[in-house]
Amino acid sequence: MRQASHSPIGVFDSGVGGLTVLKSLMEHLPHESTVYLGDTARVPYGTKSGEVVTRYSLKNAEFLLERGIKLLVVACNTASSVALPALEAALPVPVVGVIGPGAQAALARTQGGGVGVIGTQGTIRSGAYQRALEAQDPRVRVKARACPLFVPLAEEGWTTGDVPMLTAREYLGEFARDGVDTLVLGCTHYPLLKGVIQEVVGPRVALVDSAEATAQAVVTLLEGLDLLAPATSTPSHAYFVTDVPERFTEVGARFLGRPIASAEQVDLKF
Ligand code: SIN
Repeated sequence: MRQASHSPIGVFDSGVGGLTVLKSLMEHLPHESTVYLGDTARVPYGTKSGEVVTRYSLKNAEFLLERGIKLLVVACNTASSVALPALEAALPVPVVGVIGPGAQAALARTQGGGVGVIGTQGTIRSGAYQRALEAQDPRVRVKARACPLFVPLAEEGWTTGDVPMLTAREYLGEFARDGVDTLVLGCTHYPLLKGVIQEVVGPRVALVDSAEATAQAVVTLLEGLDLLAPATSTPSHAYFVTDVPERFTEVGARFLGRPIASAEQVDLKF
């Protein structure tokens, strides 16, 4: 398949969380068209086995390929942790996950005090961030912890107040005590809880959001492949979901930072 510069970038996530990655992509690449698929019928991925998440990821990618994408961004940390090799082997377009760019950004920030990683159970259990960090710097000290309750809190919009604060203290107290100087927000939902997370770990800990680093990696890749959309392009943004779209458009606007006019429900025939 031949990719063209005017073709859209495909992005998938287990649900709304990947819109934080799409938001960064739109900021860095304002001329690019995008097609976003949120697998809202099967969210969350973070509690499922690697085998199941890989099967879902391949289906999501197949759907986006049918829309003529030139590059796939796997916005979901859990899918990036377990399904990237299968996606790279199966797809005729470049695939960018969030783990490598997030790990690279963390290593660029740490002053040697150690890197913390928080994510879903699937992401932390896979060891993908730990491997990516150690592959780039074998001396790095990594401390990882799953924070599963952060996902429903972000989905509910409970991002400030006592409930997220107590949850964050329970999960992150040990990071503050352990003296890590950089913390990777290894789940697409966590950037919404940045305020409470920063308050608990303290101002000396740098929070690394994989969304930003991933968008930068996509810019570099498209430039290298000469596939950037021309600056004269008027971009279009399409949204697809696998469950009814109402909640996605409502909650998604909070993640994307702009209204989502509509999303189309699709059946991926699992
Ligand atoms: C999830 O589907 O459990 C959260 C998304 C992520 O892992 O980034």
